[in-house]
Order: sequence, then C-alpha cells, then structure tokens
Amino acid sequence: MPQSPAQQRRQSMLGISPSTHNTHTPILLPQIKPLVQERIPVGYAEMDRVLGGGLVPGSLILVGGEPGIGKSTLLLQVSGEIAKNVGPVLYISGEESMEQIKMRAERLDITGEQLYLLAAVELDVIIEAVNRLKPALVIVDSIQTVLAGHLTAAPGSISQVRECTVQLMQLAKTTQVPIFVIGHVTKEGTVAGPKVLEHIVDAVLYLEGERYHSYRLLRGVKNRFGATHEIGVFEMQGEGLVEVTNPSAVFLSDRAVNASGSAVVVSMEGTRPLLVEVQALVTPSNFGNPRSTTNGIDHNRLVMLMAVLTKRVGLAVGGHDVYANVVGGFTIEEPSIDLGVAAAIASSYREKLIPADMVLIGEVGLSGELRAVSRLSLRVREAAKLGFKRCLIPSAGQGNRLRNEINDANLPSDFKVVTASSLAVALEIAL
Ligand code: TYD
Ligand code: MG
Repeated sequence: MPQSPAQQRRQSMLGISPSTHNTHTPILLPQIKPLVQERIPVGYAEMDRVLGGGLVPGSLILVGGEPGIGKSTLLLQVSGEIAKNVGPVLYISGEESMEQIKMRAERLDITGEQLYLLAAVELDVIIEAVNRLKPALVIVDSIQTVLAGHLTAAPGSISQVRECTVQLMQLAKTTQVPIFVIGHVTKEGTVAGPKVLEHIVDAVLYLEGERYHSYRLLRGVKNRFGATHEIGVFEMQGEGLVEVTNPSAVFLSDRAVNASGSAVVVSMEGTRPLLVEVQALVTPSNFGNPRSTTNGIDHNRLVMLMAVLTKRVGLAVGGHDVYANVVGGFTIEEPSIDLGVAAAIASSYREKLIPADMVLIGEVGLSGELRAVSRLSLRVREAAKLGFKRCLIPSAGQGNRLRNEINDANLPSDFKVVTASSLAVALEIAL
C-alpha cells in the first residue's frame, strides 16, 4: 500500500527518505538496502569533521552562538567555498544590507561569481527564491528575523521561529538543498532561539569562544548524519576565520612554564584529544568570606575538588580565595580534567611547580580516589606527540586493560607513564 501524504510528510520532516518498501510488512534486516549518503565537503576540514564528513543534501543545520562570535563570517566563508567549488549559493540576510555583506566578502577575499545575496525576511519570498534558483546551498541569517506571513507573532518569538524552521525543514527535504540557519543565543537565554529548534533540525552546531579571545570552537551537539561532540577549531583573524589544525600546540604555546598553579590536561572532544592548560590561583582571603570563581570549568566541580583537597589530602584551601581558569577561553566539561585542576590548586597553594613536561589525566571521586577515564591511549599518545615526557594517570581498576591501552599508545621509549590510586598520591608525585 502506498504511503499516505501525511506519512510521507512526517518521514521527510524526520529526514527519512520515502522508502520503496511496503511499510506494513516487517522486513528482514539483511534485505534492507543501506542508505548511501552523499557528502559535500564545505571547504574546511575542521567543519566537515563536525558535520560528520561533509554536508548531506537536503539537511537543515542550525548554527548557534552569541551575537558577534562569527557565525555570519563562518557561513559567508563556507558560501564562498561552495560557490567556487560546487555550485550557486544563496545567502539570505535579514540582519545586514547587501552592501554590508559585500564589504565583509571583500575583506574575506570572496569574489563570489556564483554567490547570490538576498536581503529578505518574509518566508514566502525566501521559499520562492530557493525554488527558483535551486542552489547548491542556502544560508538563512538569521532565523530570528524570518517571518511567516500567516502568523501575527513578532519575529524572533517562539511561534515564529518554530514555524519558520519547520517550513525550512520541509523546503530542504523537498528540494534536497542543504540549508544552514543561523540562530543567536544570548547568555541569559531569553530570546526564542536555538534551544527550541534543536529537536526540529537535522544537526546543531554551536560556535563558541570568548569575544575577546581569538579562538573559536565549532561544536556539534546534535547530528542525525554523524557522531556528535566533534569539534572544529578556528582562529578569528583580520581576514576571517582560519582553521587551526593542531589546536593543542597552539593552546599551549603561551604557557608560562615556571609558574605555580599551572597544569596541562587532556580533554577528549569527540574523537580528538585536546591538550589545554588549566590555571589556578589560591590567595588568603582578606575578608573572612572566601570566594571561588571559574572560567571554562563548572563551578560546582571546583567546589567539589576544593572539598576533596581539604578533607582527603589535608590542604586547608577552605579559607582562601580560589580562581580557576581554562586557558584560551574554552569550556571543558569532561571530568578527566579533575586531577589537573586539583593539582593546579595544590600547586598554587604550596607554591610548588608541576613539572613542565607532565600531563595529568584522571577523574577525582569524593573519597579522593582517582577514577579511570575513557580513551586513555589516544590521550597519552597526543601528549607524547606534543613533546611531553611524563603522564600521570589513574591506576584504578584497569589491570590488563591499562597495560593494553599503554601498549596501544605506542609511546616513545623516553616517555614515562606514572600511575596513582588517589589524589593524595598523585600530588606527592606531581609536586
Ligand atoms: P560576525 O560574523 O558578524 O558575528 P555573528 O554573525 O555571530 O554575530 O562576526 C563579528 C565579529 O568578527 C566582529 O566583531 C568583527 C570580527 N571579524 C574579524 O575579526 N575578522 C573578520 O575578517 C571578520 C569578517 C569579522
Ligand atoms: Mg551575523
């Protein structure tokens, strides 16, 4: 029996191509033909990886980020590449005039023979233009400016943003044109934006970083066509966003080697290990009301680590102000950096250096124990690759597995792997 229009519409909204099989009869797994997904490279390997190997035709991808972080710049650069290498691109902006976009394009050295600009906000106009032009790629900048005429709600309101996204999803599916929509998020998260759209679109990428730092992280948080949690690293320069292919080396390049309170940790960002420096500063509290602040690290995690240092290691950090910071302006959520953060605090408190050639990996538990982390061999290998000579890791419950992981890492002969069962033991070794 053929599928009903409603069924087809639902499937296309979910990104499933209409199946040739009868949907009412169960089918044996081996008899189902695999879906061959064509991929279009966007011209930046750092972005292709986050997309899961390039753009999938007919996909709707949300690119979110704070205003001013570089979303328009990134997608104009991608437009330039696709227009040069694949086919016509339609860049629709409700935010800037065509002249402003042209100025940016000149700064980015985009000639754009196949790049069409459209300054429009009405959804009908946008859909018509896409249907007429049938471009290889469409950019909608931004979803907060698009208006579906039949709704009276204001642009940027939840109902507008949701309705427009649903319609753009249908447009992508029916035309098989991939569409990027830009969405602003504010720190307060007040405006209707990316969060309400995440479940509608095929993929969600966030462009992160601090406005006054030059590095930008493109992070995949949802992807129907690939793995999530991959990251791409860029640097904002005068001529736009430039790929950073060896981010660990770049992040560590400014490290002050002879400073206390500094530790190097390895965070897994998707499939890629990233070495970054964490810093801590511990100072006696003047007002009897100790404060702690963090940048790039979860504050609750810092408070927990301070409690463990106090109770399990005997460091009286409680009466001190503690500041902890991830260098480069990034946020790291992985617990594997616990050991590094705790060691940086202890290093500042005791005014003792952690060896400059040592990397610290491990999650800290409430009993002060060091807990195993995933993908150890990848992390350790990356540290060795960047010239580190020592690595402090948890000995926790791994036995043979630990030995195998270290063997897998294929380390140089002068690289030492040191294990510790608890934070207290690890600090004895590191400081
Ligand atoms: P933009 O892409 O407009 O941000 P968004 O679309 O996320 O709001 O980027 C704006 C910032 O980037 C602006 O402060 C200027 C800076 N920038 C550069 O440093 N170099 C460049 O080549 C470009 C185009 C922008
Ligand atoms: Mg913009």
